[in-house]
Amino acid sequence: MSEDRPTTIVIFGASGDLTQRKLVPALYNLHRKGRLPKGLKVVGFARNRLSTASFRQRLEEGLKEFDPQAYEPHAWAEFAESFEYLTGNLDSQEDLARLKTYLEKLEAGPADRLYYLAIAPQLFEPTVAGLGAQNMEAEDKGRCRIVIEKPFGTDGASAHQLNLSIQKVFREDQIFRIDHYLGKETAQNILFFRFANTIFEPVWNRNYVENVQITAAEQVDIGHRAGYYDQAGVLRDMFQNHLMQLYTLIAMEPPASFEADHLRNEKVKVLSATRPIDTSHVVVGQYEGYRATAGIPPDSRTPTYAALKLYLDNWRWQGVPFYLRSGKALKAKATEIVIEFKCPPKVMFDQTYDADFSSNVLSICIQPDEGIHLRFEIKNPDSNYERRSVDMEFHYRDYYRDGDLPAAYERLLLDALKGDASLFARDDEIEESWRLIDPVIRACCPPGGNEPVPYKRGSWGPAEADRMMEAEGHKWLSGCVHP
Ligand code: BG6
Repeated sequence: MSEDRPTTIVIFGASGDLTQRKLVPALYNLHRKGRLPKGLKVVGFARNRLSTASFRQRLEEGLKEFDPQAYEPHAWAEFAESFEYLTGNLDSQEDLARLKTYLEKLEAGPADRLYYLAIAPQLFEPTVAGLGAQNMEAEDKGRCRIVIEKPFGTDGASAHQLNLSIQKVFREDQIFRIDHYLGKETAQNILFFRFANTIFEPVWNRNYVENVQITAAEQVDIGHRAGYYDQAGVLRDMFQNHLMQLYTLIAMEPPASFEADHLRNEKVKVLSATRPIDTSHVVVGQYEGYRATAGIPPDSRTPTYAALKLYLDNWRWQGVPFYLRSGKALKAKATEIVIEFKCPPKVMFDQTYDADFSSNVLSICIQPDEGIHLRFEIKNPDSNYERRSVDMEFHYRDYYRDGDLPAAYERLLLDALKGDASLFARDDEIEESWRLIDPVIRACCPPGGNEPVPYKRGSWGPAEADRMMEAEGHKWLSGCVHP
């Protein structure tokens, strides 16, 4: 979509949480930065009976609550004019036909369109089929694209089915499957950091790397999302999408360019070369008190924590363990990637002093204190070989101002408007990721299966996850969270 072309965003599920919390604050910030197409229109479509005025008011309240620092009454009043609202049912062809006529009248000529499905996942297929039945994917008056939120399927088979259904109506290049981790500035920096720095690029392989650790720890518990979460669990909620995306970015070969298919081809190669996960290398846990949450069955075995080890059977990574972990109600919020390098030979130091070196550790802090840390060894002053580990640190906050790190949704919405799919998942990428996670879910959390290991709120998860690492002589490391 070029900026001088009229553009309409249609948000399905516009009266829901995501629209208020994420989409509208992101659009508003883009508007303030002057990055949206001129004359953009945003049409909300949902079942709730709302007038356009009350819809705008609701969005304003959302903005005040979820992005209070950005809220500025005049800027909002100006931007609010872009929003319209239409009440309708997604499963009613009559209502979709009404929406179609409404949009054509509003656009009054050629316009690009972006449909955003901010709706319950069970409505994805019927909604897309409904759009198809109304011929609303047609591109006779402008480009037409569709953004689909997560979760994308509940297993490999349902994700495949969903891909087929969407592709019956939209071409693959019109489809944008969102994973908001890819919109995080620090996640985007991974490839840049790896390939733009001569000193790191050559050591990024089995010859120098001892192991890789990817952690997405959350302090929050499941909050009010019992209905969704108890069906999903941490493996569907965080592993199949966000953690696997970070894993591919860390492990992939350099793409020929940042163009969407070049990037995604390399990511798919990583997933398809990943060895099926040995389920004896998986630990699942549940925080104490989870079962007492309103809406959670008292005997629920849904894991709120998981840690696993996997191997990538390609030339670069043969034999290097990748450890992934994520959980809720943990000690701190921290999303971090740690590369632990192999220790050098100690022979020269051994003879004189206890040379129990720590390895060099590179930590990429995705959030909350975005930055990069490198741990290395020095000799203590006035000693012969007494050593100490020290940290070389880069923090975004030291180089950029508040607000310079855009919210993930800003970047993703802008890219979807431009038609750039490089930060969105392709059909095969999603299915390959399910291929790896499905057997883990089946083996480790079958209904009526083994109990997940209980862990204390505010801890770092079950001790079993530490033992899994210790068995290999490794331990969880962090350069970003200081105990
Ligand atoms: C979502 C999950 O996709 O990501 C949530 O459904 C999780 O359960 C969230 O809390 C984490 O995102 P972030 O950006 O806060 O790390």
